[in-house]
Amino acid sequence: MLVLATTNRKKAKELVRLLAGVRVEVRTLADFPDPIDVVEDGETFAENAAKKAVAQARHLGCWALGEDSGLTVDALGGAPGVYSARFSGPKATDAANNELLLHQLAGMPAAQRGAAYVCHMVLADPSGKVRAESQGTCRGRILPELRGTAGFGYDPLFELVEYHRSFGQMGPVAKAILSHRARAARRLMPELVALVDSHELT
Ligand code: IMP
Repeated sequence: MLVLATTNRKKAKELVRLLAGVRVEVRTLADFPDPIDVVEDGETFAENAAKKAVAQARHLGCWALGEDSGLTVDALGGAPGVYSARFSGPKATDAANNELLLHQLAGMPAAQRGAAYVCHMVLADPSGKVRAESQGTCRGRILPELRGTAGFGYDPLFELVEYHRSFGQMGPVAKAILSHRARAARRLMPELVALVDSHELT
């Protein structure tokens, strides 16, 4: 059994879909009565992903996949980065974060609106030891207005330049192929499958 160490339900839904081919039962924190609240105070996606994986694995006594992700905007020096979820403040909503991003990039031409989504994944065993990790990125551009309603977070503003469409317009099938999370999951796959095949991860 593998538990997804995230409380973000939309993220968990994407992860469940991405891991569908692995012969292991995937659970989310919602399936446990007492997951711990992990403070995401790391300076990098890698640090936060490891914190989530290791803490939940030890606490719940099972394999855990920690995932930390966010948006890095070139013109903002990589912000909001690890602060993506809390960009507009401690009680941030997706709408408020998107509004602040639009405000900070107001008037900037398309050529200066480059950005990347980054996702880091860490797999920890029941003792809390890190057994595998991977990172995926997805480059795009921040649109001057919201387009589409699919996905979550910054998806209506994140344009895949080659497709002339935002993740908000493209929907879950495209996101499961092209996103930072999809790329990180694919990179983790060989190690995950090897652990399942060797019956270490059951
Ligand atoms: P985390 O739960 O601390 O990893 O926060 C991730 C935050 O980054 C989310 O709340 C979103 O604001 C942003 N983010 C990460 N991945 C995505 C994505 O796939 N689409 C849109 N926003 C994302």
